[in-house]
Amino acid sequence: MPKTFFIRTYGCQMNVADSNRILQSLLHAGCIPCDTPSAADIIIINTCTVRQHAEDRAFSFAGGLKNLKKKNKNLKIYLVGCAVSVRGELIKKRFPFIDYIIPAYEVEKFAGSLAENNRQTNKKFFDEFVTISRGCSNYCSYCIVPYARGEEVCRKYADIQREIKQRAAAGNSKITFLGQNVNSYKAPDCKADFADILNETAGLKDIEKVSFLTSHPKDLSDKIISVIAKNKKISREIHLAMQSGSDRILGLMNRQYTASYYLELVGKMRREIKGLTITTDIIVGFPSETEEDFRQTLDLVKKARFRSAFTFKYSPREGTASFLLKDDIPVDVKKERLSRLNTLLEMH
Ligand code: SAH
Ligand code: SF4
Ligand code: F3S
Repeated sequence: MPKTFFIRTYGCQMNVADSNRILQSLLHAGCIPCDTPSAADIIIINTCTVRQHAEDRAFSFAGGLKNLKKKNKNLKIYLVGCAVSVRGELIKKRFPFIDYIIPAYEVEKFAGSLAENNRQTNKKFFDEFVTISRGCSNYCSYCIVPYARGEEVCRKYADIQREIKQRAAAGNSKITFLGQNVNSYKAPDCKADFADILNETAGLKDIEKVSFLTSHPKDLSDKIISVIAKNKKISREIHLAMQSGSDRILGLMNRQYTASYYLELVGKMRREIKGLTITTDIIVGFPSETEEDFRQTLDLVKKARFRSAFTFKYSPREGTASFLLKDDIPVDVKKERLSRLNTLLEMH
């Protein structure tokens, strides 16, 4: 009897892409997907830890599987991903019934090992994602990602090129490049940068649409802007996290740009790229954020004119630089600022 499996994914597109790799490998190994955890012989939980709430959701789902494990002695549970990277010890104590724990930076190897004995001849693609780099070396002071996924490692340009051509030949006309900061991509095997990847991909006749996630403002170069401007196939929807409109807070966040730099960048992009829409991420209630700092965030939001935004209350993450700062903005104030910010975003 072939084994059945169930995958539950939390977090960002990187995790979605990793879960797709696991799915692909399990299918190649002859396993069959099922709709509920109770029908599965293998359960995979791909976790996120970017904010406390994300971690809590994944762990509460994991906790709920204890009874299934009692009922089905053959069930194997895998807890994988970002929360595993940074909470390995806690997980072993809190969930002794979990069979395997695999940190985010080993998921790719793990997915490969699942399909090891089933060398695939005809490669199929289950999604449009092409990972160009893993991890992040920006160390924004609030962010756990560099610890959960490790420092940025860029994939070889030749490998990326080969994969894109395979995808195009297999009839996948849409490609989304993935990385925590795609703009900082530097090929380890030649001189190519992210603009070159975009340009080359948009030039392939079988490719109709090219998107990417996500961009860091500090590395969004003029070369990238002009490649997007010239190539209609490249998506006009760009995600560009702003985080705050206060230079003091941006400094404490280690974002390496100012509010006026951000606004100028947005202005330049709008002038050069016709039909551009911008979405963003914003954090409220970072340690020591005053009403004045917050007003500067509202001010930048008014000026930048976003299509939409993901807005978050600051969540202290153990191991990050800002964890050492006092989380001194009361939760009521965080909530109040979040709601004012969201109201403004809806109006614009
Ligand atoms: N690499 C992406 C962001 C990945 S995390 C980028 O820089 O664009 C997605 C978003 O979660 C971040 O942009 C930030 O707004 C938010 N975030 C990250 N850590 C957080 C924390 N500790 N508290 C609240 N929000 C956080
Ligand atoms: Fe986190 Fe900053 Fe890296 Fe984005 S760029 S993943 S916010 S450290
Ligand atoms: Fe993504 Fe969450 Fe990891 S946002 S990189 S899955 S911590």
